[in-house]
Order: sequence, then C-alpha cells, then structure tokens
Amino acid sequence: MSNEQVRHPIFAKMYARFAPQMDKVGGAEHREELLAGLTGRVLEVGAGTGLNFKRYPPTVTEVVAIEPEESLRAAALKAALNAPVPVTVIDGVAGSLPVEDGAFDAVVASLMLCSVRDLPKALAEMHRAVRPGGELRFYEHVRSGNRVLGVMQRGLDVVWPHLFGGCHTSRDTAAAIRAAGFEVERIRNFSFRPSPIATLVAPHIIGSARRPAH
Ligand SMILES: C[S@@+](CC[C@H](N)C(=O)[O-])C[C@H]1O[C@@H](n2cnc3c(N)ncnc32)[C@H](O)[C@@H]1O
Repeated sequence: MSNEQVRHPIFAKMYARFAPQMDKVGGAEHREELLAGLTGRVLEVGAGTGLNFKRYPPTVTEVVAIEPEESLRAAALKAALNAPVPVTVIDGVAGSLPVEDGAFDAVVASLMLCSVRDLPKALAEMHRAVRPGGELRFYEHVRSGNRVLGVMQRGLDVVWPHLFGGCHTSRDTAAAIRAAGFEVERIRNFSFRPSPIATLVAPHIIGSARRPAH
C-alpha cells in the first residue's frame, strides 16, 4: 500500500490551460521526438491531460496511462477516445505502479519526474515495469549546468513545489535515471523557454535509456 497522495487541483487547472499553449511554441515537436519509433506496449506515468496520446506512432499496440490527479485523469480519459492507438487511463502513483513486473516494452516520463515526491522510488518502479531490454523515454526539465542558475534553482525549490504541483526545478534527472539502473543511450540537452517565468526551468533533457537485457 502506498501513502503517496497527489492532489494539486489548482495547479492541475492551470496546467490543463497552459500546456497546450506550450505545445504551440515548441512543446509539440518535443513530444514527437519523445515518442518517435516506440513499439509494442507502453506505460505512460503521470500522463496529465493526455497531450502525448495523439502522437503515439502506429507501431505502439497499447498505452496504459497512469494519472493520479482526478481532473487531469478526466481530461486524459477524453483524450484517449481520440487517440490513434488504444489507450487505457487508470489511477495510480509513480512510487507504487499498479502494473506487473516487466509488462511493458517502454515507459514514458514526460515532464513529470520533477513532480514525484521520491524520484529514486519512481524510477525503480519504472525499471520494474519495463521488460529487460526495454526502454525509458524521458522529456524533463532539469537542474541547470550554469552555476548561478543552478544555485538559484536550489533556493527556489523551497517554495516552487508548493506553487506548481510538487514540481522541483533543480533535479539532476539524468543522474537519477542512471542510478536507477538504466543505461542512457540517447540524451539531448536543450533550453526551452515558452514563457518568461519558464526561464527558471528552461534547461531540458530528452532521450532514451534502456533497462539492461541481463
Ligand atoms: C507537469 S504535469 C505533466 C503532464 C504530462 N505528462 C505532460 O507531458 O503534459 C506533471 C504530471 O505528473 C503527475 N504526477 C505528479 N506526481 C505524481 C506521482 N507521484 N505519480 C504519478 N504522477 C504524478 C501530475 O498529476 C501531472 O499529471
């Protein structure tokens, strides 16, 4: 049993409104890059309103999407109806995924590893859920390599999570992915600043990591 509760109704409302705007100024292309070439059964964790759903390639046979926040899950259920591949949306949390060991060919983490309370635990669960040899696809904002911005981000993380649904600005997510036992095969660092406030979370990574086959 998990005591990991996710309830950020005000942030959820705000995100549902602004995420499509972010997609219009570059986010959509990042989502395409995130999902390109995926095949088989995919688990998407923290799916939000389901903005990725319409971008899954036809080589994906099924998506199971986990979303703990009630209003976002309701929006995701609607998005699933128009998805080009079968999408099932269920309640659940990253730290205790309601799925069998090794049941998926790939796991997708899209702008959500910043928000989970226990990052190593969430990644350990993703590692468990993907089959040996399967992939973790990630698209995340991360700690800046710039010393000044990095220090600012660490300070900011005292208040930022309270304002933005548990989001942290200063996570070294690539290091955490490696520490969880994934082998990073492809990673692209880039800056994405869809609005002035997003300067603080501009450093992003996108790429693929693999659970070793043995
Ligand atoms: C910034 S939104 C991103 C939503 C979506 N993945 C996207 O790309 O638009 C962060 C998402 O992570 C989800 N989330 C936060 N904590 C979580 C947790 N512990 N387990 C699963 N999902 C979580 C939130 O409910 C929200 O949907």
